[in-house]
Amino acid sequence: MDIQLPNPKLKGIKSLEECIYERESVRKFKDQSIELEKLSQLMWAAQGLKGRKRTVPSAGATYPLEIYLIMDRKKLYHYLPKTHVLKFIKEEENLCKNLASYSWNQDFMCQAPLIIVICAQYSRTCHRYGDRGIRYVHMEIGHCAQNIHLQAVSLGLDSVPIGAFDDEKLKNDLADIAFSGIYSSNSFAKKAPVLVVVVNEKSNYVARVGGFLRGTQYSLIDIGIAVEHFVLQAQELGIGTCWLGWFNEKGVKRYLGIPKSKKVEAIVSMGYPPEGVVPGEKKRKNLDEIRKYFTGER
Ligand SMILES: Cc1cc2nc3c(=O)[nH]c(=O)nc-3n(C[C@H](O)[C@H](O)[C@H](O)COP(=O)(O)O)c2cc1C
Repeated sequence: MDIQLPNPKLKGIKSLEECIYERESVRKFKDQSIELEKLSQLMWAAQGLKGRKRTVPSAGATYPLEIYLIMDRKKLYHYLPKTHVLKFIKEEENLCKNLASYSWNQDFMCQAPLIIVICAQYSRTCHRYGDRGIRYVHMEIGHCAQNIHLQAVSLGLDSVPIGAFDDEKLKNDLADIAFSGIYSSNSFAKKAPVLVVVVNEKSNYVARVGGFLRGTQYSLIDIGIAVEHFVLQAQELGIGTCWLGWFNEKGVKRYLGIPKSKKVEAIVSMGYPPEGVVPGEKKRKNLDEIRKYFTGER
């Protein structure tokens, strides 16, 4: 169930100077849930609204950060700054254990009653600043994390930043799920350094009605165009791609926490081809055969 957080307070017991002085990384925690008032305060410090702006500075006010929480080791929530609500995503017995395994097995994480996961949608900032936006996002994560640590001290809580994260293990585990068993004809994709998962969001009302009347699913046409642009751009950059339509969709959705209402239409594996590998010659119809196919000419 979603949680409406109480309004945050603008006055605490400790001075800012005391909070800065007392903050230190702590890796041992009591098994005691954190009160709603304190969660509210922590979320507000991380990304809370102050009028149209937030408690943390952001390059061009593009606000790329999204905050997730793992509570009591198994419940995942997403913080929504506009409504100051924790939106329930899922409950999974091994949630914290799995996260710790991606953080180089720092199992002490699972003692903590609260884990705050700072994610970023880089495109929001890079759309305006190009590649420099990547630096800005990293700086913003620092601003956000420090606000959380200092707010924690002021509430009598301890914390530690965790930067260790094994992206490759995450990708490899996803590949194992997507391309095993009856899907193993595509198991070559497990070796690709990058897998892009293409998700079909629910279309807007007009597109759905129009598509229904026409008997066409427009979103699939859109995905075809977008992914083709994507693979052509990759080609221009010297990166090889393979569009994969045969994979364990249920497993991929469960693993990535993609809601049931959305559909994973394709996975694109990508990476640099080994030196000296040239694509095999394709058997294509020549133009004359294509013309005859369409005109019905013999
Ligand atoms: C970006 C970043 C990543 C960190 N990653 C980890 C981590 O993965 N595990 C951990 O135990 N501590 C981690 N730390 C905490 C540092 O070890 C800690 O801040 C440092 O030892 C200084 O101690 P203090 O925080 O008590 O002042 C990280 C700190 C930062 C700033």
